[in-house]
Order: sequence, then C-alpha cells, then structure tokens
Amino acid sequence: LWFTGLSASGKSTLANAVAGALHEAGCRTFVLDGDNIRHGLNKDLGFSPADREENIRRIGEVAKLFVDCGVIVLTSFISPYRSDRDIARQLHEAAGMPFIEVHVDCALAEAEKRDPKGLYKKARAGEIKNFTGISDPYEAPLAAELVLNTHAMTLAQEVDAVLALLDTRGLLSAN
Ligand code: ADX
Repeated sequence: LWFTGLSASGKSTLANAVAGALHEAGCRTFVLDGDNIRHGLNKDLGFSPADREENIRRIGEVAKLFVDCGVIVLTSFISPYRSDRDIARQLHEAAGMPFIEVHVDCALAEAEKRDPKGLYKKARAGEIKNFTGISDPYEAPLAAELVLNTHAMTLAQEVDAVLALLDTRGLLSAN
C-alpha cells in the first residue's frame, strides 16, 4: 500500500491506523516511514530531486523485500514525483505483487494550516529550499487505486475505505 501526499496530509496517521486494523484482522504488516527509513537507511539523503528519487527507489526495493516475506507493507512518504512512484509500481507488478497507490489528498491550504512541525512557515520564509507544495512540485497521481479527501472524511472512514479495497482485491483473506 503506497500512501502519497503532501507533508502533513495525514499519510502516517492513516498508514498506522490501517496497519492496526489489518493486525486485528490477523494480517502481518509493516509501516515504512520517515522515522524508520529517513533516519536510518536513507539518512544520507536530503530533498533535492535526485535525493528524493533515490529515497523512493530504495523504499520501493525494501517494500518489495518485505512483500516477498508475505507482509503487507504500508509506505508513508510524500513521494512527490509521478515517475518515481511509477517505478516502484512497476517493480512490484513485474514480480506479480499487488501495488495499491493511495492518494492522501489534502489541500495545500489545509496542510499548511496544520503545519505540525512549522516547516511550511519556514518554507514560506525561504528558510527551507525545495519544500513540496511551496517551492517543489507535488505531482498528484493520475490513476491512484484510491483517492481519499482527508478534508471531508474521518480517519475511521478512510481506514474503512482502504480495507474495503483490500477486501475487494481478495488481499485480506490471502494474508
Ligand atoms: S520525499 O519527497 O522524499 O518522499 P519524505 O516523505 O521522505 O519526502 O519526507 C518528507 C518529510 O520530511 C516532510 O513531512 C517534512 O517533515 C520533512 N521535510 C524536510 N525538508 C523537506 C522538504 N524540502 N520538502 C518536503 N518535506 C521536507
């Protein structure tokens, strides 16, 4: 499950909530996010276009290894560039693994209002370069399996929508 969206869009909250629900349903899951990837494996990478590309490439490869072990992987990264997400998709699909892109679609104004780490404010002040949505692009998915408008939905509704999709694909019973 590949969650993509702006900083502060709610990706990690949702990924963790879905992981919890899947766990309850008896599925093995693992969440890849900034805490366990950007601070470890990818701590040599910043936010230049080349570094983001490499960030997402490595995440795609790591996700695939976990899927190989029979785990449902939930990735929570901005992953702003369409081409990088498509590479991750192809990597999985070529190996016969389902790849479900979930666009955590939150308006920039709303993400900026939340600004939990004060980063949008800093980006607006020119203190952070290449900030997604401000000074670096976010390329919204054109054909995500699921688009969730976090503005209009509760977390519980979002979790239900993801689980319903997994169920439709037969992925809940298979795990
Ligand atoms: S990605 O673009 O390479 O996918 P990733 O999801 O790993 O980004 O990291 C994004 C998080 O890093 C943001 O939520 C924010 O907390 C922090 N961050 C620091 N600098 C930037 C930046 N220039 N653009 C976006 N996020 C940044």
